[in-house]
Amino acid sequence: MPRVYLSPPHVTGREAELVADAIASNWIAPLGPHVDAFEAELAAVAGVEHAVALSSGTAALHLALVVLGIGPGDEVACSGFTFAASANAIAYSGATPFFVDATESTWTLDPDLLDRAIASRRDAGAGVRAVVAVDLYGQCCDYGPVAEVCARHDVVLVQDAAESLGATYRGEPAGGQGALAAFSFNGNKIITTSGGGMLVSRERDWVEHARKLSTQAREPVPHYEHLEVGFNYRMSNLLAALGRAQLESLPERVTARRRNRDRYIAALGDVPGLSFMPEAPYGTTNAWLTCMVVDPGAFGADREAVRLALEAEDIEARPLWKPMHLQPIFASHHTFGGDVSARLFERGLCLPSGSSLSDEDQAAWSRRSSPRAADRYAVADSRTSTTSSQ
Ligand SMILES: Cc1ncc(COP(=O)(O)O)c(C=O)c1O
Repeated sequence: MPRVYLSPPHVTGREAELVADAIASNWIAPLGPHVDAFEAELAAVAGVEHAVALSSGTAALHLALVVLGIGPGDEVACSGFTFAASANAIAYSGATPFFVDATESTWTLDPDLLDRAIASRRDAGAGVRAVVAVDLYGQCCDYGPVAEVCARHDVVLVQDAAESLGATYRGEPAGGQGALAAFSFNGNKIITTSGGGMLVSRERDWVEHARKLSTQAREPVPHYEHLEVGFNYRMSNLLAALGRAQLESLPERVTARRRNRDRYIAALGDVPGLSFMPEAPYGTTNAWLTCMVVDPGAFGADREAVRLALEAEDIEARPLWKPMHLQPIFASHHTFGGDVSARLFERGLCLPSGSSLSDEDQAAWSRRSSPRAADRYAVADSRTSTTSSQ
């Protein structure tokens, strides 16, 4: 059996056709018609007016902070339970991140704790300017209360939507909840351009400023004239062609990943000691990665034993994100809460979740290792076959 990967790229549609078109038209430099079209199409999917295609989601987060004028001397609140890129982008801007823990029920930013954290940093004299709220594993933050907290403290809300393309919050697509939002098209994401990202907003001026900054902040004159420090962050036309083809399949990708998750839950959800990331009632997750929590006492083995057992079967699984306050590089930064994400890191495992994951792949470990688990998959098959088009 070939190795089962955590979240491999999935190519089925018009990728070859559109990339061949980019090559045939000689638009293989940065910028070009596919970049313009990808920006318009992605903005429509995210429910916002403006978008700029960039070299990565990290670049998108960085430029979001730069166009907001955030820099040295400023502080930015950040979801503590995230991938390091969210906090790294704050560090690139010269500002200082502080971290706020997640709620048990959503695994995303805790709005009450955020409120107290900003108040506490302000009381200490800090210039808190923004919040980077991270949509985790495809699930949006609870943006109603998060936005209220931001408004009360007069700070700007930046949405790290790197993992949530195709998810919804209160019926609206992920990406329109923050003043600015960043998407990632990294190789492991729900759609990929091999590497890439997008910054989106309803505010035209921010996006246009980011567009200029992303090509070395060149002024619109014939020679190279620069009034501000720029970056080389633009997406190429070749990769945008790939992205457009991938975006066409987004609804099916979301369906496939949600189905993976439903099958895991149907098969394993009632095993003592195993539980899954809750889906918050305020939206729909894209189920980018299915996350399982292992309670060693009740299950009889810990998360690492499960991961190693899967690895022995050539199945890739990964611990949940190690929270920022436990990362040596950010350990000295102010942190509010931290126990929720620390416990999830200790016990949580991301399971193979790719949209190309076959029923056979998903059941492989169970079939080979335990006839009882194989029975569970048979039951899961019959239970999820009616819901697979959700
Ligand atoms: C939550 C989060 N933020 C930011 C990023 C950065 O995106 P990229 O890898 O495209 O720079 C990622 C993914 O890689 C992510 O998962």
